[in-house]
Amino acid sequence: MNIQVLLSEKISQAMILAGIPTGCAPQIRQSNKFQFGDYQVNGMMTIAKKLSQQAPRQLAEQVIQHLELDGIASKIEIAGPGFINIFLDRNWLATQVKWALSQPRLGVTVVESQTIVVDYSAPNVAKEMHVGHLRSTIIGDATVRALEFLGHKVIRANHIGDWGTQFGMLIAYLEKQQDEYHETITLAVLENFYRKAKYLYDQNIEFAERARTYVVKLQSGDEYCRTMWEKMVDITINQNQQIYDRLNVTLTRKDVMGESFYNDMLPGIVADLRAKGLAVTNEGATVVFLEEFQNKEGRSMGVIIQKKNGGYLYTTTDIACAKYRYEKLHANRVLYYIDSRQHQHFQQVLTIVRKAGYVPESVPLEHHAFGMMLGKDGHPFKTRSGDTIKLADLLDEAHDRALTLVREKNPKMSEAELQQLAEVIGISALKYSDLSKNRTTDYIFDWNKMLSFEGNTAPYIQYAYTRMLSIFRKAGDGIDDINGPLTITEENEAQLATRLLQFEEIITQVACVGTPHVMCSYLYDLACLFSSFYEHCPIIRAEDVATRQSRLQLVLLTAKTLKQGMDILGLKTIEYM
Ligand code: ARG
Repeated sequence: MNIQVLLSEKISQAMILAGIPTGCAPQIRQSNKFQFGDYQVNGMMTIAKKLSQQAPRQLAEQVIQHLELDGIASKIEIAGPGFINIFLDRNWLATQVKWALSQPRLGVTVVESQTIVVDYSAPNVAKEMHVGHLRSTIIGDATVRALEFLGHKVIRANHIGDWGTQFGMLIAYLEKQQDEYHETITLAVLENFYRKAKYLYDQNIEFAERARTYVVKLQSGDEYCRTMWEKMVDITINQNQQIYDRLNVTLTRKDVMGESFYNDMLPGIVADLRAKGLAVTNEGATVVFLEEFQNKEGRSMGVIIQKKNGGYLYTTTDIACAKYRYEKLHANRVLYYIDSRQHQHFQQVLTIVRKAGYVPESVPLEHHAFGMMLGKDGHPFKTRSGDTIKLADLLDEAHDRALTLVREKNPKMSEAELQQLAEVIGISALKYSDLSKNRTTDYIFDWNKMLSFEGNTAPYIQYAYTRMLSIFRKAGDGIDDINGPLTITEENEAQLATRLLQFEEIITQVACVGTPHVMCSYLYDLACLFSSFYEHCPIIRAEDVATRQSRLQLVLLTAKTLKQGMDILGLKTIEYM
């Protein structure tokens, strides 16, 4: 059920009958104030201007004359310069709620399926994930879930940084350590090795030489180097998987398609770009000059795709990767969750890929950029000593803070239960606080706000959900026994019902532009509307059985929608808190 689409179709028909040329958009939106109705048509002003022979209000009048909304709208009015406000009919709302409740997907239509590749998370090998990876990982995952729920085929692509000259140093260092270190190496140890290896590399000529030899050997498939490298990749992937699991992120090992995966394609790409006249030799390197970008001197910017020493770059890999996603994975659309500082990199890759004809214009490659997490001081979020914060530590802190909270609230609960609850509440709060911000901007990280039971937070929504469950418990009815006619008489019921029926519009928006904050605002709004409804409309103590049953059904759809919405965000609901 997509009311916006339904109304849009109806209005477009009326517009044609009113003599408006096809191709003019009605611009129908959800109203943001109840006095303006439930939906608002904003297109009349633009259309009148375009046709320049009629006042917008007159035009609106004509459209309304042809508008066929019997049974759907109870009132249609013209407001201001020529807005059309539509008020949905309560009987119609009641029928739709009843129908949505009978549908396993809550009435959300399955779309025509596309193959969509989503590039997200993408941490680097031999380094622990840090706060900088949180946004890509969870915003990407929420979008994946929304796309899948709508019926798309989604290919998750974890483009890990598993290739490059640093692995030569690491292999050389690991080799040196093998005799001293027999216990299994953790990622933290590996990261420490990396630091020491880098130090040695800069200090010790012999070590540096060995490291360089290992890079060459690794690239030519030498078995020993390959094994050592695989070991490092393995340690990293295994440990990151624990973070994904804790975060309730759907990525698994089989989604890893790291930089190394495209390595064999790179010589061919460079040769092809040369043959196409796009790449040239410049000071020994292979460079693509792009007039679309200007360097400091105001000339076409040169993008290196192969270094003088033969090494390839991050850009070269991304060019190959885009080609692969189109040719081999048959992507209809590719979404990249990469931080906004890499925007220029992404634009350059995109420009080269299009010029080379590797991916046709009909297949969008979209950079879903996101801003940074900032500390209270407005600077990038760091530890007290100024180091980057490890994601694992952030999750632990979320758990600990939630534990203090739930312990206070539930003094009689067993330790095991408290721990379990704290994990769900803590991680959800952390994720939600990020997901609820528009991804395009930076935001200030604030523990107290995210764990608050008031405002647009996970605890608020989880708590609202537990209240709904407790209504069913008190009513004493099994969920399957809640039936009978559904009627909407009160304003609070109508507002809640309308919002419930907008679920599909919200999922569609999240899937289109990859902005989970839209879902957060929606769920928060639902929880608030539920709260007003609950305050004004007695449920268990309703005046008669029919009203009680009718209202219980509204609560049921609200609970189901909240749960499904949270699930799309990758968040869990709880039964009590
Ligand atoms: N590994 C990179 C980083 O940590 C992100 C990779 C993003 N994906 C891509 N196709 N470039 O910055």
